[in-house]
Amino acid sequence: IALLFNPWCLQLVSALGVSLLAYVSTVTLIPRVGDAFIRRGFSGKDMNKAEKKIIPETMGVVCALVYFICMIVFIPFLFYKYLVPNGVKPTSEVGWMNRERAIASHFPHNHLVEYLAALLSILSISLLGILDDLFDIRWRHKFFLPAIAAIPLLVVYYVDCDKTYVSVPTVLRPFLSRSIVDLGVLYYMYMAAVAIFCPNSINIIAGINGVEAGQSLVLAIMVCLNDVLFLVRPGTTTDAIHLHLLSLYLLLPLVAVTLGLLKYNWWPSRVFVGDTYCYFAGMVLAVAGILGHFSKTLLLFFLPQIFNFVLSIPQLFGLVPCPRHRLPRFNPETGLLQNSYVDFTDTPNLPKKTKLSILLFERLRLIKVEYEPKTGRILRCTNFTIINFLLAHLGTMREDHLTMVVMALQFGVGVFALFFRHVLAPIAYRN
Ligand code: UD1
Ligand code: MG
Repeated sequence: IALLFNPWCLQLVSALGVSLLAYVSTVTLIPRVGDAFIRRGFSGKDMNKAEKKIIPETMGVVCALVYFICMIVFIPFLFYKYLVPNGVKPTSEVGWMNRERAIASHFPHNHLVEYLAALLSILSISLLGILDDLFDIRWRHKFFLPAIAAIPLLVVYYVDCDKTYVSVPTVLRPFLSRSIVDLGVLYYMYMAAVAIFCPNSINIIAGINGVEAGQSLVLAIMVCLNDVLFLVRPGTTTDAIHLHLLSLYLLLPLVAVTLGLLKYNWWPSRVFVGDTYCYFAGMVLAVAGILGHFSKTLLLFFLPQIFNFVLSIPQLFGLVPCPRHRLPRFNPETGLLQNSYVDFTDTPNLPKKTKLSILLFERLRLIKVEYEPKTGRILRCTNFTIINFLLAHLGTMREDHLTMVVMALQFGVGVFALFFRHVLAPIAYRN
């Protein structure tokens, strides 16, 4: 009973309750709004099916909306202990003024500001997602906008702690003759880069049923586990407990709305998530990492997305042509997915940068290339994505199996990240 009346425990129970509300609301709303979304033009063609059905898209809007309502409903629960002032109410004006002053002095305004800054950043990026779903904004135009959305977070981080150093592993300390390296403003640039990277990187592991929501679900659960491991570890400071609880409060409702979304987005999809969901989910994860002060650990969980980004560089930066869609190809005869290709049959003389990129990535076994047998000319190569990489190495497979492979990979990487952070790092950074 004593544990139950511990303020953190009550907050956690409320967060779980709010998340349950988020799940039920998402599951109830999505099937009810689908037709209205199609009528307004929020729809997409399911390209990996024999009959290319048109289904509602941009269901991320429902997720983001439910998420915000639940996060706002949660505010009184988060600060409930300050909302129940002790003692009898004053009977004079002076008494009231003293009471107001007393309440203001012990209310943790900085905690409320952190929470509201988080919501503001997530809200701005969800707006960008909606605009992208409406107007298909070019990626070079939208690329840096998440950094602007992250400004409230960075200001809060600056005022809260301004911690900009990285620890040096014990073995390197004698060489550098110091135990920390202060990165100063570079650290803020790094956090802005995390805010740019997380939403965009989820949006480019996409195009097969359930993969955007599936990877985000595994990511969110693994980052929650990271928070829990910090919370139960003996010796965690009160400040650190506050930061990891905040991260949990941001992530649990994300897990809930994502589970609700996956119910309809899983193969064969009845709805698509849209760019709104990818940006929204990516930003919640980035915000949890930045405000929870574990933005470096966060990137360990994003290793599959980092791999996909590095693999995509030739196409994203125009070294190799990038088609509008790089998703795999559906084979109507087998019902399975196979690699999609960039075709060069009509381009006999490839530019040097294209040829070099293709040869380098083929040498690294990241793509598959087909040559004309007689002349050795490049005819086509697989698209530069992790999904095509998996298909090239594991062979053709059904769409849902491919999504499960991506989720399993994400899970494996998550386990590695937890092991690295909670077992290896304490040894490597031991004093
Ligand atoms: C990103 C990818 C693009 C990929 C697309 C698929 C990059 C640079 N961009 O573009 O290569 O093709 O996502 O989402 O890597 N769709 C399906 N099945 C699904 C999900 C989506 O067929 O399970 C199709 C639908 O037609 C849907 C469209 O993809 O309408 C959505 O694409 P969109 O999110 O607008 O593409 P981008 O994010 O710009
Ligand atoms: Mg997209």
